[in-house]
Amino acid sequence: MIKKHYKKILTLILITSIWSSLEAQNDNVIEQKIESILSQLTLEEKVNMCHAQSKFSTKGVERLGIPEIWMSDGPHGVRAEISWDDWAYAGWTNDSITAFPALTCLASTFNPNLAKDYGYSVGEEARYRKKDVLLGPGVNIYRTPLNGRNFEYMGEDPFLASKLVVPYVQGVQENGVAACVKHFALNNQEHWRDKINVEVSDRALYEIYLPAFKVAVTEGKTWAIMGAYNKFRGAHTTHSPILHKILKTDWAFDGVVISDWSSAHSTKEAALYGLDMEMGTGTDGLGTTTANHYSSYYLANPFLEAIKKGEIEEAIVDDKVRRILRLMFRTNMSSNRPLGRVNNTEHHEVARKVATEGIVLLKNDKNFFPIQDKKGLTIAVIGENATRSMTKGGGSSELKPKFEISPLEGLKDRYKNAKIIHAMGFASGESVYDQVLPSPYNADSLKVEAIEVAKKADIVLFVGGLSKSHLQDCEGDDRQQYHLPFGQEELLKEIKAVNGNLGMVLLTGNAVEMSWLDKVDGLIQGWYLGSMAGNALADVISGDVNPSGKLPFSFPKKLEDNAAHSFDELSYPGDGTNQYYKEDILVGYRWHDTKKIKPLFAFGEGMSYTDFKLSDIQTDKKSYSENESISVSCTISNVGGRSGSEVVQVYVGKSKSKVKRALKELKGFQKVEVDSGKGVTANIEIPVSALAYYDETTSNWIVEKGTYNVYVGNASNNISKSLKITVK
Ligand code: GLC
Repeated sequence: MIKKHYKKILTLILITSIWSSLEAQNDNVIEQKIESILSQLTLEEKVNMCHAQSKFSTKGVERLGIPEIWMSDGPHGVRAEISWDDWAYAGWTNDSITAFPALTCLASTFNPNLAKDYGYSVGEEARYRKKDVLLGPGVNIYRTPLNGRNFEYMGEDPFLASKLVVPYVQGVQENGVAACVKHFALNNQEHWRDKINVEVSDRALYEIYLPAFKVAVTEGKTWAIMGAYNKFRGAHTTHSPILHKILKTDWAFDGVVISDWSSAHSTKEAALYGLDMEMGTGTDGLGTTTANHYSSYYLANPFLEAIKKGEIEEAIVDDKVRRILRLMFRTNMSSNRPLGRVNNTEHHEVARKVATEGIVLLKNDKNFFPIQDKKGLTIAVIGENATRSMTKGGGSSELKPKFEISPLEGLKDRYKNAKIIHAMGFASGESVYDQVLPSPYNADSLKVEAIEVAKKADIVLFVGGLSKSHLQDCEGDDRQQYHLPFGQEELLKEIKAVNGNLGMVLLTGNAVEMSWLDKVDGLIQGWYLGSMAGNALADVISGDVNPSGKLPFSFPKKLEDNAAHSFDELSYPGDGTNQYYKEDILVGYRWHDTKKIKPLFAFGEGMSYTDFKLSDIQTDKKSYSENESISVSCTISNVGGRSGSEVVQVYVGKSKSKVKRALKELKGFQKVEVDSGKGVTANIEIPVSALAYYDETTSNWIVEKGTYNVYVGNASNNISKSLKITVK
């Protein structure tokens, strides 16, 4: 028996070693092909490959049969086809797709397996739409609740973002489509995004803002990275000497750096500091297009001339072209790319699963949720967000889905016995990228109507939140207030006065102020949930699915409790030229824990329709050397009445330290499904090297010796036990 077992293992080892040597051979063959093509290209042809020929494509080399490269937004689905030369949509009738939930929702699932399914599905749709590069995912850290694009990113914790970006990138690229992780780096707000110069310490840079980009390169093997609009230490991040060295030398990134649209600003800097493909120059991102035809791009004629005059070495353009050819061999010149699929049921199921697993139950007094589907029960669904399309707007991540099931539709579809009535309640106006259009509705009449409807119902479900229009959750600028807009707070209070049975479904991509929290018995944090929004919300509201989402960012009680807003305007939004991340490494729950400022809802928090207990919490040893791993185990018991999933979270901190530290930092998590009455053991490995801090004096990562605290719980504010370990 044993002999057979060993034989199996040996065969497996043999296969994997053959496979990896084949892969290495394949890479060598590709590199040789790249060199042979490079030697045949004229200088003009090489330069032409380094910049756009249209809004979303770059030239190939027709003479040699080298194809163009086509790219498309975005992180949540493949954007509708855009015109050749301007931002207008091309008006195609065959480019509608599946809209997946926003990445904040994916982050809330704390489920890397789902991130893989998500990446694979969106990549498959991009492949079908013949896109070689998908311009996403975004992994900029959530620093302020006002940032217009937080909904596109993965929250406030670098470890969580790191664990989700890797499988997402791998999933996309299995389709022969490049992911393009963005926006590198420090693009943590939209206000003044095209000019603000961010000043931040090396520790915060390396410990908070870079980790997700680093693992996307070193583990996810992303084939593309997008530079950001903002500056860092005085240089444009799209061609910054510091970021160029980190990316292409320290991390040995072998893919292409694509600019954001009009984030390139200098031929010399773009040439020397790592920009490979210049896109969108002459536009302000998504705004109007000025006549800046492609041959006058920084990496077009000016680049060609500089090389001809010997001001820039030809080796510089050769490096760019090698990377671009490598991208082509991985995508549109790869011999065995799958064919892609779009709008198929598997994708709809993935979209629905990410949505239901990402929805967060935050409050459930009197067991407000789930709401039974009972005859004779009248449920009033009030709020514009119950019917508003949330895949439109928001900027470049906006989508044209084949369908989008609204919360109201989803609820009507699910509740066959109860009676569903609806009132709009409030209106936010058309979602336009760079201006606020007044709503065509009269606010007072909407309110009066909503109150009347509320009076007729047994239960009121308020579906509110933010919209994806300008100055809301939208690219190009930030929110200008922390509280809910469009008179929602007032309306909630007036509804409460006529119907005490009130629950809230918040559809946002950001934290909001909740002065109204005591008015609602139930609170669900829904995200921008994509095509399957209504079904997913109905799944959770009806109890068909037991919610298991956990917040990927803190909800401060008031804006000033947030780290970035605890200093002067230089911290946020900056003075129009410079901005200083004065909170340094204490972002999000790191701030709340360390400064003892209790958030309204904490990072990692989320309820279930059942109850879990953590027990037998232990580490395998008491002391570790630097090259070992800490094995943390614990039992999760489901002591409630129905099966569900819980996310065990392991944080580590060091009370006595040479350097400033957050009280605790997430270093491990595991989502486990547990049947009612059962227990499951979770094992979480934390390499001791992951406890290192970035030492600014030596520019090295250092694992301090001594005692550490290991906190185990199901939320950053709900730790079941903390243990001490030492590093020798
Ligand atoms: C936008 C965005 C970027 C997007 C690009 C193309 O300005 O910043 O995320 O991929 O331009 O639309």
